[in-house]
Amino acid sequence: MIKMKMVSLIILVISFFSLSVSTYANFNNGVDITWGGGRGKIEEGGELLTLSLDKTSGSGFQSKYEYLFGRIDMKIKLVPGNSAGTVTAYYLSSLGATHDEIDFEFLGNVSGEPYTLHTNVFSQGKGNREQQFYLWFDPRLDFHTYTVVWNPQEILFYVDGTPIRVFKNNEVHGIPYPKAQPMKLYSSLWAAEDWATRGGLVKTDWSKAPFVAAYRGFSADACIASAGHSTCSSSPPKSSWWTQSLDPAGAQKLKWVHDKYMIYDYCKDNRRAPPPECFL
Ligand SMILES: *[C@@H]1O[C@H](CO)[C@@H](O)[C@H](O)[C@H]1NC(C)=O
Repeated sequence: MIKMKMVSLIILVISFFSLSVSTYANFNNGVDITWGGGRGKIEEGGELLTLSLDKTSGSGFQSKYEYLFGRIDMKIKLVPGNSAGTVTAYYLSSLGATHDEIDFEFLGNVSGEPYTLHTNVFSQGKGNREQQFYLWFDPRLDFHTYTVVWNPQEILFYVDGTPIRVFKNNEVHGIPYPKAQPMKLYSSLWAAEDWATRGGLVKTDWSKAPFVAAYRGFSADACIASAGHSTCSSSPPKSSWWTQSLDPAGAQKLKWVHDKYMIYDYCKDNRRAPPPECFL
């Protein structure tokens, strides 16, 4: 009897720790398909997830858990061929009027023309921090890894391990930083032909529908938040992402991406007044 209790206690302790910083390799354990009337599918026993879009509807999924800091990796293969007017959104968000959000959005294009990777960061409901990139490969052809590292000091966006964007905690300069609102991971495939491709000039070719984006290798090495409490607040995780920042080699790579592949930077948009972090 006592032995039984010990065993269940150990199991309880183990499951508590695996919850506090957890990794999911399987979509069945990590996400729920939330809309699309069967257009989103989990296949291969949880190894593969596909979202599809036709003229009637797109589809989407969200993580089962809310995270408060973490490292989230996903391999995504974007809609092949002519994907003009389609948007594959992949983001963390706390939702609501004063939401925090970390965005990747992939804007499709006609065959042979580049996808645009659109990024943004919202803190306490304020975004307008867009940076856009072309990629150094065609994201329709293969799975590539898109990563968010979010810790108390900075938010890092990576593509195949190459940093493309850094958003630093500049609270000392009065700039709000996402650090108190837990976020879920969301992804959806939807039609935005009014603006997505060259400001709506290029229309979606619905004869090519259904459009399909595919996902593999989901991993969330993250602090789980529930009922207003994060499992990392009492004991910080030992994972390397908790203190991760750009090292000199990373800064060099970031510069390469910005010099060669960045096509829009909110800090350099003279039509808008750049926010304070652009002057630091
Ligand atoms: C699509 O291709 C055109 C032509 O190369 C380019 O100007 C545009 O930025 C690309 N991306 C989107 C989302 O329209």
